[in-house]
Amino acid sequence: MSNNEFKVTPWEVKGEVDYDELLKQFGVEPLNDKLLERLRGHAGSLHVLLRRKVFYAHREIGDWMDSYEKGVKAVLYTGRGPSGYTHLGHLIPWILTKYLQDAFGSDLYFQITDDEKYLVDQELTMEDIHRYTKDNILDIIAVGFDPRKTRVFTDLTYTKEQYNIAVRVAKHVTFSTARATFGFTDSSNIGIIFFPAIQAVPCFLPQVLEKRDAHVLIPCAIDQEPYWRIARDVAPKLGYRKPAGIYSKFIPGLGAGGKMSASMPETCIFLSDKPEEAVKKVKNAFTGGQPTIKEQREKGGNPDVCVIYSYLYSLFDEDDRSVAETYRACKAGERMCGECKNQLADKVAAFLKEHQRRREAAKKRVDEFLLKE
Ligand code: TYM
Repeated sequence: MSNNEFKVTPWEVKGEVDYDELLKQFGVEPLNDKLLERLRGHAGSLHVLLRRKVFYAHREIGDWMDSYEKGVKAVLYTGRGPSGYTHLGHLIPWILTKYLQDAFGSDLYFQITDDEKYLVDQELTMEDIHRYTKDNILDIIAVGFDPRKTRVFTDLTYTKEQYNIAVRVAKHVTFSTARATFGFTDSSNIGIIFFPAIQAVPCFLPQVLEKRDAHVLIPCAIDQEPYWRIARDVAPKLGYRKPAGIYSKFIPGLGAGGKMSASMPETCIFLSDKPEEAVKKVKNAFTGGQPTIKEQREKGGNPDVCVIYSYLYSLFDEDDRSVAETYRACKAGERMCGECKNQLADKVAAFLKEHQRRREAAKKRVDEFLLKE
């Protein structure tokens, strides 16, 4: 066991996460080079989020690729809980999902858990949830998923089909298992205790709707993994395949430590931020730099703890040589924090501009994506 105290649940991430330790706690596997090469083979190239190990863990992704290669329908499933405006962290699994949809031609089931967020957040009203749902759907569409292959649905509106499956799931999950998996207590409301059955539903929905065999792969950050333990336990009891998963680390907030989280808006890049606002946040971010330029020149900076470097590394500088040179020059005291901040600020501003253009265009396209009863 690590001495470092941390906690990861779908609703709370506390402390400094030890990702290797989490592999053991959750019983998931690291993504190894062999699997990455298989993914590269199918996609033609390896996405930067895979190359740089932002996605670092999985469950049975090799089996999912086996199914695809054997002609079993290989489906993707991901989601969003509409508790606020979308931030860059939420986008990470969606960007990988789009890459996988392009590579495997997969159908994508996209669940919006408006019920979950209503149940867990005491402050949010139903009106808030509906407003965020509408807003978040635009961000989802703006990612560029194929409308012919993507079905977006919310739990509070696409209910009948989902509830029928959820009840069958729930029958096989005891309170004791749910409590051990999610940490429920006597004061947890009964809605959230049932909810894991709802999040399991899209693991089986493709088989039910299409009346054929299908194998589901779930891209998400590692915080969602407890849900898939329940779904995987129940799958064989209902006669379905267990879903596979591919899991990312959390991208950090712009402050010192902690994942990007909407509860700290000043350290968060929201997809609805004006590019100038986001640039300001980047310029105020925590870095691994020394207090003065003189000291930076003498001692060098520390890219290993630098949020700006971690953004360049994880997503915004795809050029392997350039990012390696940034690392070297920072450590050698040849590169100042201002240069990295400017590089990232330009990238983030350009990214937001393009995303917001696509979001605007998405307003006319919502019906193309929504799965309705
Ligand atoms: P939600 O809305 O909390 O998060 C949406 C997705 O973003 C991931 N995520 C992050 N990834 C990287 N860095 C971060 N800082 C960060 N913060 C959040 C989450 O893991 C998630 O993948 N219960 C879910 C909704 C859901 C779902 C799913 C998610 C329903 N079915 C299937 C993934 C897959 C939720 O509230 O996600």
